[in-house]
Amino acid sequence: KLIPTILCGGAGSRLWPVSRELHPKPFIRLADGHSLLQKAWLRGAALPDVAQVLTVTNRELFFKTEDDYRAVAKGHEGLANSYILEPFGRNTAPAIAAAALHVAATHGLDAVLLVLAADHLIADQAAFGAAVAQAIPLAQSGRLVTFGIETHTPETGFGYIEAEGNTVLRFVEKPSLEKAREYLASGRYLWNSGMFCFSAGSMIAEMELHCPQILAATRACLAESRSASGKNFTQCELDAAAFEQVADDSIDYAVMEKSARVSVVPCNIGWSDIGSWNALGELIAPDADGNRIDGDVRLHDVSDCFIQSNERLVGAVGVSNLIIVDTPDALLVADRSRVQDVKHLYVSLKSEG
Ligand code: GDD
Ligand code: MG
Repeated sequence: KLIPTILCGGAGSRLWPVSRELHPKPFIRLADGHSLLQKAWLRGAALPDVAQVLTVTNRELFFKTEDDYRAVAKGHEGLANSYILEPFGRNTAPAIAAAALHVAATHGLDAVLLVLAADHLIADQAAFGAAVAQAIPLAQSGRLVTFGIETHTPETGFGYIEAEGNTVLRFVEKPSLEKAREYLASGRYLWNSGMFCFSAGSMIAEMELHCPQILAATRACLAESRSASGKNFTQCELDAAAFEQVADDSIDYAVMEKSARVSVVPCNIGWSDIGSWNALGELIAPDADGNRIDGDVRLHDVSDCFIQSNERLVGAVGVSNLIIVDTPDALLVADRSRVQDVKHLYVSLKSEG
């Protein structure tokens, strides 16, 4: 049995002002009416031998998440949803530690998890299924399997995997632009898709080696939570005081960069990460002037802009290469080459409370 494990959290700070703490990126709805989160769930639900989907998310997002799943559950009535609910985000290493420990306790150390990010698009479900089928035996043999995507820009927001076949020589998370250019030019690197496949036991063993604090503190937290929630294994709420003790780190830095057990399945699955406004803009076909428009917008002498408006009419004159995103209470104007820096606004707003 395979347990798709959806990670839904993170503020999606580069997609401010639409993505907020309590309306994070996975809930952004695309033109087809599905949210990124619903797409992730359907992606996991469609795989063979799946009886339940595990979701790790903030407890404040539980009802929103259930609503989203219920809306697309038709045809998957036999599938159970279980949850690990966090009081706050501690990034992906603790979320994955909690998932691996929980699955080990409920299904044994050999159970295989497939970690799915809730902020991706995958166009080719058949190719995705084939990649997962390749990953499962590797995971069963004790490997931590990543899914490698062919690089085409020196993107600095991704992990880079130096690979020979399924063997990973090196994993570098979010390199500098200079390094990213070098990796791209070398032709030896793949992007880390942010999805992982491993047995509960091998992830726990690697965490024991490379991030023992996170593992031990998360284990203590689960023990605390279990005694509070009794036998209700389908919904485990992490104790806030105990989770406070867990260090904040991503799985990429905490484990993948360090582990000698990492494998990769190179794949061509039509993957895209909806990480920035440029990525969202690319989902909209450009007009003759290269503008990508979503909403009520009037233009005069405008080129290569992405403009989104939810309610108000937006007008633009004589500008190019801008991102303009209007929401009822906040307006974003950014240079298209600076989309990665939108997170700085988010961070400074957050520090103001
Ligand atoms: N439950 C939970 N709790 N989920 C979280 C948390 C958390 O504290 N933080 C992030 N997530 C979820 C996000 O919602 C997303 O679905 C996934 O975990 C990955 O987190 P991101 O914050 O989006 O990571 P990233 O985009 O910076 O980097 C990762 O993904 C890239 C590809 O998209 C890395 O794995 C990179 O190596 C990779 O290239
Ligand atoms: Mg991401």
